Amino acid sequence: MTYETVGLNAHRAAIARAERSVELAVREGIHDPLRPQIHFTARANWINDPNGLIHFNDEYHLFYQYYPYGNRWGSMHWGHAKSKDLVNWEHLPIALAPSEEYDLHERGGCYSGSAVDDNGVLSLLYTGTVIRDGVLCQTQCLATSQDGITFEKYAGNPVITVPPEEGSSDFRDPKVWKVEGVWYMVLGSGRDGIGKALLYRSPDLRKWDYVGVMAESDGTLGYMWECPDFFPVGDKYVLMLSPMGMGDKKTIYLVGDMDYITGKFTWDKMGDTDIGFDFYGPQSFLDASGRRIIIAWLNSWDWMPWFNDYSPPSVTEWCGSMSIPRVVELNAQGLLSFKPVEEMKTLRNRHYQTDGPFCVKPGEPEALPDFAGMPLEMIISFRLRDTAATRFGLVLKGSEDGARQTVIEYNPESKQLCIDRSQSDGWSKGVCSVHLHSSDGEQLTLHLFVDSSNIELLTENYTTAMTLNMYPNPDDRCMHVYTADDSIEVESLEIWELSREING
Ligand code: FRU
Repeated sequence: MTYETVGLNAHRAAIARAERSVELAVREGIHDPLRPQIHFTARANWINDPNGLIHFNDEYHLFYQYYPYGNRWGSMHWGHAKSKDLVNWEHLPIALAPSEEYDLHERGGCYSGSAVDDNGVLSLLYTGTVIRDGVLCQTQCLATSQDGITFEKYAGNPVITVPPEEGSSDFRDPKVWKVEGVWYMVLGSGRDGIGKALLYRSPDLRKWDYVGVMAESDGTLGYMWECPDFFPVGDKYVLMLSPMGMGDKKTIYLVGDMDYITGKFTWDKMGDTDIGFDFYGPQSFLDASGRRIIIAWLNSWDWMPWFNDYSPPSVTEWCGSMSIPRVVELNAQGLLSFKPVEEMKTLRNRHYQTDGPFCVKPGEPEALPDFAGMPLEMIISFRLRDTAATRFGLVLKGSEDGARQTVIEYNPESKQLCIDRSQSDGWSKGVCSVHLHSSDGEQLTLHLFVDSSNIELLTENYTTAMTLNMYPNPDDRCMHVYTADDSIEVESLEIWELSREING
């Protein structure tokens, strides 16, 4: 079957204009040493949520919310990149640009959404956003591509024109999947202070029927559920979302059961996808080997408690990056673990390993090699038995005089693990902390990825993650293990320098 497309010229012209702006920014841009090296960033300018993640024709596709005209949020486009291995990305032309009456607005555009393979046709579902007479109008739209690069908007757009009664004008971020020949879509919304996930179904991605409220907040889970994602894992189902108005919690997941007859998702377990300051709007996809993988935007919005600004003025031609892809699995406790994809190991270069355990004494920090400030991966295990230490940890990105540093510290008494970025760079602020539930009092293992301007910290068998940005001086690269009061034994320590061939 063929379907009509419209606005081809307007859409093409809008993409061409945006591409010219990116070219100019790339040509004029200076190399910013704070640009992440192993995390995906756009060639230039602002990005936010990952969109349309899909493994299609043997390649991974990553689309993303993109403002090609500057390093701040603006009228939303969909940037596009692809990869064969999830670590080296090739930039592709912009996939979607605002061009139609339903998505052309300076404070609107082509908002977040997802991608599906519709019998070989790469199909994007996104939220067209405009503001008419001061009122937010969000509708759901379709764009398709035969070659996986050039996308045409469907003539029948919007495919969902108005929110249902249970929703509100906040009505966005379609995530689409197929079950037994039927397409399903979950949308984020909220009404009267209650965040909601709304369910639709369709035979063909074009005609959609409203099923109902699939799940909603019990009054404690925020007033608007952004970027909902829904998928099976093991014998359970997961609804992952980014709730607005839930204090410190920015990306949570609910584990439960789905009834496709009633369209209701009921959950009995809740967890944090990542408790860090800068991890938002994760989206999942399935790859050919059956892995469920998530990628998130590494930044935060101005309505969040710790928000300072999207980045300090020293950050120039880019703004925003994507997390390392993480594999989602269900553990025996019914909670999710998020392990960095195996492919990350292909970035490992120079390696440092201690010969066996070593002891760190108060006042005698153990200096670690800094690998000339290159991105690093580190796995460190501390022995918790036989120590009275109440504060120990790691100093990263430290200046020679110790005035600037980023500190990862653990308190075995309170089981509180934190990252303090308040002295990282004179700009970042906040101490991010988490209570480690599963700590057995025997050992603490931390798995870290440290890039030019962010840290991803994973622990507790990958059930706990803490990700945040900081913007240290590139010369600040001292690194050491310390303890405040009693000796602590480091049972094992490995560090790898990481580097990537193609800069995504
Ligand atoms: C989440 C979000 C989405 C929206 C997009 C706009 O970060 O607010 O809800 O579609 O960003 O860029």
